[in-house]
Amino acid sequence: MKRPSPNHAISWSEVKRPIVCLAPMDGVTNSAFRQIVRTLSKDVILFSEFTSVDGLVRSEHVRLRLDYEPCEQPFFMQLFGNSPKMFAEAARMVADRGILGVDINMGCPAKKIVHSQHGSALMQDVDTACRIVESIREACPLEVSVKTRLGWKNEKNLINFTKSLESAGISMLTIHGRTYNQAFKGDADWGPIHELKSHLKIPVIGNGDIRDYNDGLAHLGNLDGFMIGRSAIGNPWCFQDRRKVPEPTHHERIELALKHYHLFRRSKQELVAVREFRKYLGNYVNGFRNAKEWRNRLMHCLDEASFVECMLEIKRLEPPLALAG
Ligand SMILES: Cc1cc2nc3c(=O)[nH]c(=O)nc-3n(C[C@H](O)[C@H](O)[C@H](O)COP(=O)(O)O)c2cc1C
Repeated sequence: MKRPSPNHAISWSEVKRPIVCLAPMDGVTNSAFRQIVRTLSKDVILFSEFTSVDGLVRSEHVRLRLDYEPCEQPFFMQLFGNSPKMFAEAARMVADRGILGVDINMGCPAKKIVHSQHGSALMQDVDTACRIVESIREACPLEVSVKTRLGWKNEKNLINFTKSLESAGISMLTIHGRTYNQAFKGDADWGPIHELKSHLKIPVIGNGDIRDYNDGLAHLGNLDGFMIGRSAIGNPWCFQDRRKVPEPTHHERIELALKHYHLFRRSKQELVAVREFRKYLGNYVNGFRNAKEWRNRLMHCLDEASFVECMLEIKRLEPPLALAG
């Protein structure tokens, strides 16, 4: 049987341009959030939170991360780790679930991750990085991509490193326009990403500081696509083309936020869900007349009933139309 692929195309090189992606974000891009993004944008490529290959192989609890709804396709799983053998085993599990591909995290700068030689550490170990790619390719027929950064301290090694990954068999590459040393400091630099594109045959996606779809188009240049992370948190409308789709009304924002909460709640106990959902709330009420006050009240809701009541009160009291962009 023919394997389904992104946007019903045969490979990354055939996905409709520009390729627009939701960035993998730990604690954020779970199934509930991905479904919400999908309700607004049918073509966005969705990535999971990064997931440990060792965890996937050894823990039933971690394997819950492989659960997704069919509407989430095109959906890709991001994995982190260091052992080519564990990557191969984890990738076979991903393939068995019908997920379209594996994205390898080679960019996470968190101390805990880098000290275990995972994430960004792989930029300094080309040999292991390439063996990971090869072992996934041997283990299963999935698309293999990599998400990484400009480099460790600077972008001097970017072309050599990514050319090696291309030779090892990746079929797409995402670059976050900061170095490991920068972590999240300073502005993302897209110059080296544009320069890199002319050295590779595979599709290249740019990432870093994109506000929305139209801002992504403005950064695109010679690249194949762009990926949006932080701006999407509590703002799933950011993937819409504002030349074609008007800004959401305040009422639409509250209604979708509530729908999102109820999806999120399915996999959590009430008090955990109410607490963890706060990370999305700040942006959902962006641009509202009394945004600061609403945010403050929402952050202090301790149970579901008071949270839902507060959201409905916002909907009653705020004018239905968006005031600001
Ligand atoms: C809360 C949070 C969690 C993240 N988790 C991951 C992750 O699991 N895997 C990954 O490759 N990058 C992760 N990132 C980095 C983003 O994918 C993205 O590269 C970065 O935020 C820059 O893009 P942006 O400016 O659009 O946010 C995370 C970022 C944030 C803010």
